[in-house]
Amino acid sequence: MSEQVTTETIRSWKTSDHKIAALTAYDATFGKLLDEAGIDIILVGDSAGNVFAGHDTTLPVTMEQMLYHVASVKRGVNRALVVADMPFGSYQPSLETGIANAIRFMKETEAGAVKLEGGRRVSELVRRLTGHGIPVMGHLGLTPQSIREFGSYHTRGTSPEAARDLLEDAHALEEAGAFAIVLEKIPAALAADITAALTIPTIGIGAGNQCDGQVLVLYDMLGLFDAFRPRFVRRYAELGTEIRNAVTHYIQDVHAGRFPNAEESY
Ligand code: KIV
Repeated sequence: MSEQVTTETIRSWKTSDHKIAALTAYDATFGKLLDEAGIDIILVGDSAGNVFAGHDTTLPVTMEQMLYHVASVKRGVNRALVVADMPFGSYQPSLETGIANAIRFMKETEAGAVKLEGGRRVSELVRRLTGHGIPVMGHLGLTPQSIREFGSYHTRGTSPEAARDLLEDAHALEEAGAFAIVLEKIPAALAADITAALTIPTIGIGAGNQCDGQVLVLYDMLGLFDAFRPRFVRRYAELGTEIRNAVTHYIQDVHAGRFPNAEESY
């Protein structure tokens, strides 16, 4: 078994040639498969609300649901860093609420870090969490928990003011002690500028190839989720088609009495 990936490993890759590969997962089976394939970071994202639970947004996802997903993934993983995404409502009410919920992730799931969305407006929380020894990954750009504020999933940081804001947010997160920052759906040139300006790694999703690493939602890249398909998603498999074909085949076998056969029976 190769050495466990820690937040220190992730930081150290900033100054190396190693591009960080991250994916999301929500259960032990996929967690194990990703880990065996050599993924660096498994983000147990609140995208579970969309691809796992079938909601339109990530807003309904609860702490209890995320605790279950993160603990499940963690049981399948030996090497990768498992990052727990803090769901909407788990850190917005107050610093104390955010700290208490982050502690729950660390105690009840053994995650290696938590992730939360926002820049300067969460930087004090990031400072407090990292001060208590809880590693934090930031998330800037398209932040799905703020969908009601923005009203759309359009690219962020496209005006000079918005770009300047994002750079300031990134500096605030770094200064507060975040070990890495996800940059979602922002222009590639802006992501490159932010990446160059920071001493901590950036992990891009729809943010071009100059970030220090990349993350995708697992169900998107495996072709399991079709409700929306942003252009930054590369499909590495068509498992949705595979699964439909397998199930159709199974149904035909059952209907025709071909399953089970003698070897499959006792
Ligand atoms: O919830 C999630 O899966 C995420 C990624 C898209 C970065 O936050």
